[in-house]
Amino acid sequence: MINERPFLLLLCIVLLWGCGIEKNDPNSMVVSAHPAATKIGVEILKKGGNAIDASVAVEFALAVCYHSAGNIGGGGFMVYRNSSDSVFALDYRETAPKQATKDMFLDEKGNIISRLSLDGGLSVGVPGSVDGIFEKHRRFGSLPMEALIQPAIDLAKNGFRITQKQAKRFNANREKFDQINPDNNYLREKKKWKKGDVLIQEDLANTLGLIKSKGRDGFYKGSVAQSIIKSVVSSGGRITLEDLKEYRSVWRQPIEIDFKGYRIVSMPPPSSGGVVLGQILGMLEDADFSLIKRNSVEYVHLLSEAEKRCYADRNTYLGDPDFWENPVDDLLDRSYLKRRFQDFDPNIACKSSTINPGKLKVESEETTHFSIVDKDGNAVSVTTTLNSSYGSKLFVDGCGFLLNNEMDDFSSKPGEPNQYGLIGGVANSIAPQKRMLSSMTPSIVCKDGELIQVVGSPGGSTIITSTLQNILNVIVYNLSMQESVNSPRFHHQWMPEQIFVEEQMWDSLVLDSLQRMGHKIKERSPIGRVDAIRVFQDGSVQGGADPRGDDCKMGIFVE
Ligand code: DON
Repeated sequence: MINERPFLLLLCIVLLWGCGIEKNDPNSMVVSAHPAATKIGVEILKKGGNAIDASVAVEFALAVCYHSAGNIGGGGFMVYRNSSDSVFALDYRETAPKQATKDMFLDEKGNIISRLSLDGGLSVGVPGSVDGIFEKHRRFGSLPMEALIQPAIDLAKNGFRITQKQAKRFNANREKFDQINPDNNYLREKKKWKKGDVLIQEDLANTLGLIKSKGRDGFYKGSVAQSIIKSVVSSGGRITLEDLKEYRSVWRQPIEIDFKGYRIVSMPPPSSGGVVLGQILGMLEDADFSLIKRNSVEYVHLLSEAEKRCYADRNTYLGDPDFWENPVDDLLDRSYLKRRFQDFDPNIACKSSTINPGKLKVESEETTHFSIVDKDGNAVSVTTTLNSSYGSKLFVDGCGFLLNNEMDDFSSKPGEPNQYGLIGGVANSIAPQKRMLSSMTPSIVCKDGELIQVVGSPGGSTIITSTLQNILNVIVYNLSMQESVNSPRFHHQWMPEQIFVEEQMWDSLVLDSLQRMGHKIKERSPIGRVDAIRVFQDGSVQGGADPRGDDCKMGIFVE
């Protein structure tokens, strides 16, 4: 007979040891596009700040260390879910200036003037980020705002070492920066940037200092506002002091999607993200994924066919809800989506040219996403942008920051594609103070009142499909967050008629088979940069930081 007592004792030790390890698992996490910003966010969580506090600190920090997209001169969206499972969506999207006109990017013959909506003063929308950051803090923050801006001020004042990727991009953009800012290219300091160079930004530290001492007025009024106007107007733009003074972010009702028992919370218009994500998932609701291998021919075909139909709707039906009646309920209606997908053929690609927007009952890219979860399960999903890489590339004289070129997200001329190849119509035409339609899709996944995932991506029109694939990777295929983020991505947006796939990441047999079904395949540079968090039932968290960038995850255990 074996003596069971030592065995039981050993078992108890192992179990207790196991509990200890679990306790040491992180229960709080920040994942963002830059290590310096992630570190600042984690420090705030350690000091007892909540997820909103950390997001405020991260957003200001990204404006210092991630110039191509982190910003105070742009705009964004936040989806927030608190520990009581209530959900909120904050829209701090840029607006068109009051002096904007429908035809402002067209010549006398009605043709689009090349790059006018992309470079320089006229491309700039009235920035929303600073107002949005103050608004979310006012409603949900717990630490004083001063303590949340200070780390970004210190980062700007003391400097930080730039990464290899940043050095490469500063050098690549030098000519463009010089052309748009002949007297004020603050990134011209070094002839050739290299990894590890220290970037000190005194002007930006002063601007952030003014925001710290004066609140939102430190940006929307006074010397910073005057400098914004001076820089924009001398570069051909139309923003006025009044535009800045009147800018306000708006709380909106989030989109809630029911998918196979999960509740996915995402951004409503003026982002198309939540609606299109919900439409695609609605078309996939009946698919039996236990029979469909991830990233197989069948999988890519199924998702691409759904995506085509939904992007056709996006481009016709969606615009700023304050100017345009978005038929959101109709677009998300299950029977509509079923009808819209009933011509799906599992063997043949449907030609985009034969797809029209559905009939309703009623008639070098750069953005950045970050995800934060705190110890209580409060979750923040933020996507913020200058639009193109470095936005309009217009620097605000003496203030050390860049302005967006979000005006290109409007439809400059119905039927003509924007920089992402998205075609728009009247729903998204330009009007004074209107918000341009976005694809940003900050999202949060829950199930039975429990937090499951915080997710989102940059990538222009590809944001929605990158977010979609990362949701499916976790809830359908049970991938770890990092595995999910690392996986190859693909994208279809109806027009152009192409499945975009990340180059060198796909099995050529899969691509050949898709082509035989009638799909056109286009290989391209990396799609999106997903920074996401997966949350387990015991409250432990798992991060996924996108290796396509310098993105960084950091988890900690907070008592
Ligand atoms: O709001 C939008 O959809 C675009 N302005 C986002 C731009 C973007 O993601 C560029 N990024 N890589």
